[in-house]
Order: sequence, then C-alpha cells, then structure tokens
Amino acid sequence: MFYTIVGTQWGDEGKGKIVDWLSSKADYVARFQGGNNAGHTIKVDKNVYKLNLLPSGIIRNKKCLIGNGVVLDPWALINEIKNLRNQNIQIDNDNLFIAENVCLILPIHKLIDEINELSLGNNLIGTTKKGIGPAYEDKVGRRAIRLCDLPDQDNLKNKIKSLYNFHEPRLKKFNKILDFENTYEELTNISTEIINFSAPVWKIINDAGKQNKFILFEGAQGSLLDIDFGTYPYVTSSNTSSGQIFSGTGFGIKENHNVLGITKAYTTRVGSGPFVTELHNEIGDHFVEKGQEFGTVTKRKRRCGWFDAVLVGQSIAINGITDVVLTKLDVLDDLEEIKVCVGYEAMHKKYDYLPFDENIHSTLVPIYETLPGWQETTYGLTTWDDLPKKAQNYINFLESKIQKNISIISTGPDRVNTIDRNNLLSNN
Ligand code: GDP
Ligand code: IMO
Ligand code: MG
Repeated sequence: MFYTIVGTQWGDEGKGKIVDWLSSKADYVARFQGGNNAGHTIKVDKNVYKLNLLPSGIIRNKKCLIGNGVVLDPWALINEIKNLRNQNIQIDNDNLFIAENVCLILPIHKLIDEINELSLGNNLIGTTKKGIGPAYEDKVGRRAIRLCDLPDQDNLKNKIKSLYNFHEPRLKKFNKILDFENTYEELTNISTEIINFSAPVWKIINDAGKQNKFILFEGAQGSLLDIDFGTYPYVTSSNTSSGQIFSGTGFGIKENHNVLGITKAYTTRVGSGPFVTELHNEIGDHFVEKGQEFGTVTKRKRRCGWFDAVLVGQSIAINGITDVVLTKLDVLDDLEEIKVCVGYEAMHKKYDYLPFDENIHSTLVPIYETLPGWQETTYGLTTWDDLPKKAQNYINFLESKIQKNISIISTGPDRVNTIDRNNLLSNN
C-alpha cells in the first residue's frame, strides 16, 4: 500500500499531523523533496514535536527515509536529531536512512539565500533563508557536494574549494567572504555521524514496495509553492507535487497508489506572492489568532484568507489526488458566515484557474459564495454525525466545488482529533 501526502495550498496545511496519524499503519515514511524549510508539527497528548528534515514517522519509530530529492543541511540534521532524542525519540541507523546521493546545504548556500533576498529589495520572495534555493541551483549546476562525497576527505576538500571559488565573485560584490577551509573542517568534524545514516534509499524503498510494505511519502510545502506549477517566482525551489516521489526517492512502482491532498479549511501563506482571497480585516486576524498561524520555521505571522476552491481544484488535478483531508475545521467555529472562492474575475473576464501571467494576478477579484457559519464547537470531534449540520453543509459544498471526496477531517492538532469518514485507518 502506498500513500503520498501533499499540501494543496501554500504549505502548513497540517501534513505533519496527518502523516503521524496515518503512520500508525506505515512501515516506511519517506521525504522526497525540500529540506529544513519545512516545519511539520505533531501533537501527542501534552507533547509537541517539530520536524524539519526528519520524516514525521520517526515519532512512531517507523523506518524513515530521506530521499535524494531532499537538500540536506548536515548541521540542521544533527541539531534536529539531538532535540528529538531529548524528547525521548529513538533515532539510529535502524530507523533513519539517508540517500547516498542527497545533495548538501552548506553555509555558503544560506549566505547566498540572504544575498539573493537582499538584492531583490521590495520584490523579495520571503524565503526561509535556509539555503534551499541556492543548494538546488548547485545541484542542477552539477557542483553540489553529496553525502557520498564525505568519506574521501581529499576529494571533499577539493570539491568544497571549487564550489566556493565558483561563488566567490558574487560574495565579494556583497562584501561577504567565507573560508572553504572552515566549512571543510566543520563538515569533517560531523561527517562520521552523518555517514552513519547513509544508505541506498532507492533500493530499500523498491524492495519494501515489492514486499507490499506500507510506504508513506511525506510531502513538504504545498502545490502552490511548486517550482513549476506554483505562483512563480514566489515559490520554493523544488517540485512539491506528488510526481516528485519517483525522482526524489528512486521508487519505481506505480500501482496501488493513493494521494491524499492535505487542505486547510481556509487559506494561509507565508512569504510574498499573490493571494487572491487574502483578508486584511478582523476575520483574517481571527484566523491568525485562533489557528495560531505563525510559521514553525521562521515564526512569521502567516497571511490568512478564505478557502479558494479554484486553487485547490488545480492542485487536485496536478497531484492526482484521490482523497482530500480537510484540516483546521475547528478554526472556523465562531464565524457567522463563511465565504468560499469559486472563480475569479478580471477586466470582465472570468477565470476558473489561476493563469501563470504575474501581471494578471494583481487584477483578479474573487467570486465568492457565502455559507452560514455553525457557531458551535467542532474541536476534537471524531465522528461525522457529531458535526453540526451547517459544518457538514460547508464540507459538502467544498466537495461539490473541488469535485473530490473529503474523506478525513481534522478537528484539532492532536492525532486523535480526527474524523475518518471511510474508516481508512481500520481498513488498511
Ligand atoms: P505542515 O507544515 O503542513 O505539517 O503544518 P504545520 O505543522 O506547519 O502547521 C499546522 C499547524 O496546525 C500545527 O501547529 C498543527 O499542530 C496545527 N493543526 C493541525 N491540524 C489542526 C486542526 O485540525 N485544528 C487545529 N486547531 N490545529 C491543527
Ligand atoms: P511546510 O512543509 C509554508 C515558503 C517560504 C517562501 C517560499 C520560498 O511546513 O508546509 P524557500 O526557503 O523554500 O526558498 O522559500 O516558500 N515556504 C513555506 N511556506 N510552509 C512550508 O513548508 C514552506 N517552505 C517554504 O515562506 O515564501
Ligand atoms: Mg509547516
């Protein structure tokens, strides 16, 4: 059984919670793109776990894989492992396997990320400054240092030197200097610990597939941040869509695949870029406060707005989503009425999708349909029948607009605050 979990909006939809919920059934959980720009939160009773690089299955001691599609900051990894071990999570080379061909994020990438943002001035992307984009650029430029480069120290030194030489002219322009020897020494100091996790992930995952193991692919970010299909250039630097699981892990098996699209009951975004249903009023503030919409990684306040059925519909198509998981329904509990965007209008023209042309984005006006709010609590509910009628109507309405079943509903941050309409957990 193979499940892929992807975000259908601009990230932070609650993927971590759902991966953790579903991973009770999983044998393997694999990350296939992104890096420590991701921030996935898991709540189990009084414990809150924050994961950036490690697959969320680590909390349940599942076999966790970091695929080659990820860009890996070795220092961030060590730090995350240390923090989780302090929370009594077991991490060793029995449950964590990192692809030998994963590309590394080095200090120079974080510096370049900063410089890139600085040089964009007001048009900055609002990146997490974790070096993600620059590391992917070096990967595509065939200059990256990979995990498999760590054991051969002489070769490693030469590779880091030539990488730093390549970037030196631009760094100098911004009066920044980074000594490659420092990076080399710091990297060799921690390399044994990292090499310990190195493994042929492509092989492990295909063998697991052949043995019919339950494999869960954990997406990071969201479809609207996808480098190809997102709101370019205000996107991340990887393919966040489900198609990436194949090239991001080497998994080659195509049948038996389920794709869950994690979707917030409203919309949020961190960083710059178009956001047609954004609210600059007290309802937007209410979402921030009640939904605790502050970035896990950068602590920035998330921009908030109404549910956009146009965008979610687009993501469903691009990812081949089989079922939608609706999260944070409880955040809507107090509202008198709730709006859903069902199309856009610009210069007397109607759109049922978001065009790629950036110039059109700023002219788009949302077409809303308004539904009555339920104004009673749904927090922590675990059955469909217990939901207020008007909440059921809201979900039915969303289903009709996005033309996909909403099979799972999340009513709170804890793994137990979940409505499993089709008994997906007990049937698998
Ligand atoms: P991810 O990046 O998609 O994993 O999402 P984040 O962890 O960055 O952000 C989602 C936040 O919402 C986290 O703080 C979760 O604990 C929380 N959360 C997830 N599902 C629910 C829910 O149904 N209701 C509420 N109130 N909070 C939720
Ligand atoms: P999870 O997995 C929300 C956003 C950044 C910025 C853009 C580019 O927790 O959903 P980057 O550092 O990737 O080059 O930044 O992408 N971004 C996210 N927004 N959730 C995330 O991850 C994000 N990862 C990156 O805010 O707008
Ligand atoms: Mg997040």
